[in-house]
Amino acid sequence: MAVLITGGAGYIGTHTCVELLNDGYEIIVVDNFSNSQPESLRRVKELTGREFKTYAIDLLDAQSLERVFTENLISSVVHFAGLKAVGESVADPLWYYRNNVIGTIILCEVMKKFQVKNIVFSSSATVYGQPDQVPIRENALLKTTNPYGRTKHMIEEILRDLYISDSSWSVALLRYFNPIGAHKSGMIGESPKGIPNNLLPYISQVAVGSLDELRVFGNDYETKDGTGVRDYIHVVDLAIGHVRALEKIESSDGVHTYNLGTGKGYSVLEMVDTFEETSGKSIPYTILGRRPGDIPICFAETTKANVELGWRAERGIDEMCEDTWRWQSLNPNGYEQSNTESETSVPSKAADFFVTK
Ligand code: NAD
Ligand code: UD1
Repeated sequence: MAVLITGGAGYIGTHTCVELLNDGYEIIVVDNFSNSQPESLRRVKELTGREFKTYAIDLLDAQSLERVFTENLISSVVHFAGLKAVGESVADPLWYYRNNVIGTIILCEVMKKFQVKNIVFSSSATVYGQPDQVPIRENALLKTTNPYGRTKHMIEEILRDLYISDSSWSVALLRYFNPIGAHKSGMIGESPKGIPNNLLPYISQVAVGSLDELRVFGNDYETKDGTGVRDYIHVVDLAIGHVRALEKIESSDGVHTYNLGTGKGYSVLEMVDTFEETSGKSIPYTILGRRPGDIPICFAETTKANVELGWRAERGIDEMCEDTWRWQSLNPNGYEQSNTESETSVPSKAADFFVTK
């Protein structure tokens, strides 16, 4: 039996593939590579010394997805595939609703057809919108403020309804806080297309010289130094959280919702200081006005995941910044550059990499 990983070539997906493979799981990856590159999966194989099948298909293509279930014995699905840029979702909401919501409905229809009823879903702390209090508990009011967040909220509701209709489904809704960092090897990490929206990818591109300076969005919030506070979590801790969640849903039915964060909040300027210390690079910045849609402060109450999953984030912000920097300095252009290298040095690899349509 294998675990199907949708969106497995992406940032969080690749790190989760590594943890699952190292734990002895068989995996199968489905990705349309709309926001990732095959090189990331080649590196997962190199890192773990394990092989797995990859299907280069879109979740919206029900027929191809059915083929994956026909050709493989699948026990559970870890569902990362989705679009994730807030600004993009405001500009083109239909694209986001189609890709994220309809993509998930098609996935669940195929799962139902093949009697696969275990799913771990990538939700987000964005479903809480501006919280009434911190730390945020899982039972806080959901009042997300943008189409991206609404796709996450809708999918959570769809999965709850699915369980109400058939109690043999088992669902984990994982609400991630702010994933940063990279695998210790420096071989896999976050490789955003274009100019990054998120803080750490932006800082690391300033450090490596691809961007001139950081723009700090607002220093007049009611926080320790006036800048926004977030709960940054190391992507490897997050990936391990998926392994625990998978164990949970494989052993019990129901819908289980968990915050995956550290429970600690750090400001933008604290992150800049820590990054400078750990990388030895200077990060010039200017203070600008607030970014529309931003909230002042957000961090997780993590007791539920600690108790029910036996999981706790173990890596601190020094390690998060150190690992981000190792990945960025070894791969200044993310996976872009190495694609060319691997094509020239090992041309035969690409051929056996994909199961094509
Ligand atoms: P990512 O963009 O790196 O990975 C997502 C992967 O899904 C990509 O490889 C992309 O090509 C693939 N994909 C997208 N639409 C697809 C489709 N229709 N069919 C097949 N493949 C498709 O993003 P990530 O940071 O790894 O995030 C993974 C999940 O976690 C996403 O659902 C995202 O919304 C959620 N999430 C991410 C964050 C974050 O800060 N990174 C925070 C909260 C939640
Ligand atoms: C953003 C998304 C959120 C998503 C999350 C993780 C928005 C409005 N929100 O949240 O939906 O779940 O990413 O993917 O886009 N900052 C700067 N300069 C920058 C970038 C960020 O000062 O160039 C500040 C922000 O104002 C914020 C903090 O850094 O205070 C973190 O920002 P970011 O990494 O974008 O994460 P979120 O704002 O939490």
